Amino acid sequence: MTIGFDNRVAIVTGAGGGLGRAYALELARRGAKVVVNDLGGARDGTGHSDAALAVVREIEAAGGEAFSNGGSVTEYDQMVAMVEAAKARWGRVDILINNAGVLRDKSFAKMEPEDFRFVVDVHLNGSANCTKAVWDTMREQNYGRILMTASSTGLFGNFGQANYGAAKLGLAGLAKTLHLEGAKYGIKVNTIAPVAGTRMTEDIFPEAAFKAFAPENVAPAALYLVSEDAPTNMIIGAGAGVVQAAYVTLTKGVKLEAPTPESVAAQWAEIIDRKSEIVPNSGAEQTMSIMSRLQ
Ligand SMILES: NC(=O)c1ccc[n+]([C@@H]2O[C@H](COP(=O)([O-])OP(=O)(O)OC[C@H]3O[C@@H](n4cnc5c(N)ncnc54)[C@H](O)[C@@H]3O)[C@@H](O)[C@H]2O)c1
Repeated sequence: MTIGFDNRVAIVTGAGGGLGRAYALELARRGAKVVVNDLGGARDGTGHSDAALAVVREIEAAGGEAFSNGGSVTEYDQMVAMVEAAKARWGRVDILINNAGVLRDKSFAKMEPEDFRFVVDVHLNGSANCTKAVWDTMREQNYGRILMTASSTGLFGNFGQANYGAAKLGLAGLAKTLHLEGAKYGIKVNTIAPVAGTRMTEDIFPEAAFKAFAPENVAPAALYLVSEDAPTNMIIGAGAGVVQAAYVTLTKGVKLEAPTPESVAAQWAEIIDRKSEIVPNSGAEQTMSIMSRLQ
């Protein structure tokens, strides 16, 4: 079965290069009309360029339809205007891939509060801005596919990326509530944790791995996650053609007879034992699992 995007309108943020560009090109190749957003800054978020326009030209040269948007995801009004422009041109917005991102890596000891705030603002607030800007439209259409971009740093941690990791796990958290709120309006929300050789990773990736880790090898997972038959509430890792699922799980735990710090210490091994672990579908399930232990 071919996965197509005919008559679908997609917005990809940060699509002037790297992963976003690969997503935009493949969506357009499969029939979607695409808004290529990118403010075209440097890796640390400073400066501007017309990177998005070059991607639009590539899409048009291949026979696709697209327009560029140079707005910053950090500016809610600019994201609202971008969504309005897409609707004015194509009548709807079906897909949003929140992909724009920046890095300001430093050990936490050396990280200035401003570098923490800025990175969280671009990734987390930026994705919330774009999502809020399309949310009512998707609810009215009874159709929406939203993809958040997390990272191995958010899910598992990486040295020197406290700001980035906080933002990235925040995005997985955002998806976990939005998939619940969007379900009855046909909105599916997923999270991708990509691994790709781009300018963001050029100094950590060995030269030889760059080809295997091409952004084009992440795009298939991203496109599936925004397709008509997409799952919802999944966290999917993707790199070099390997696709994985990550879960937030809960152990069965222990009902302490007399809750004291000492009894927690005494039963620690059983508390963290992973057999009988569950994957709650909402926060209420943790409360329910506790209640069931009290009966
Ligand atoms: N490359 C990897 O291995 C990897 C791993 C985990 C997560 N990610 C995430 O994937 C996404 C894409 O990263 P990439 O590797 O393609 O890097 P990239 O630097 O090529 O792409 C990020 C793009 O976002 C744009 N951008 C930055 N700030 C923006 C803003 N305020 N408004 C609009 N656009 C803005 C940049 O101009 C850039 O084109 C990012 O969210 C990144 O954190 C990448």
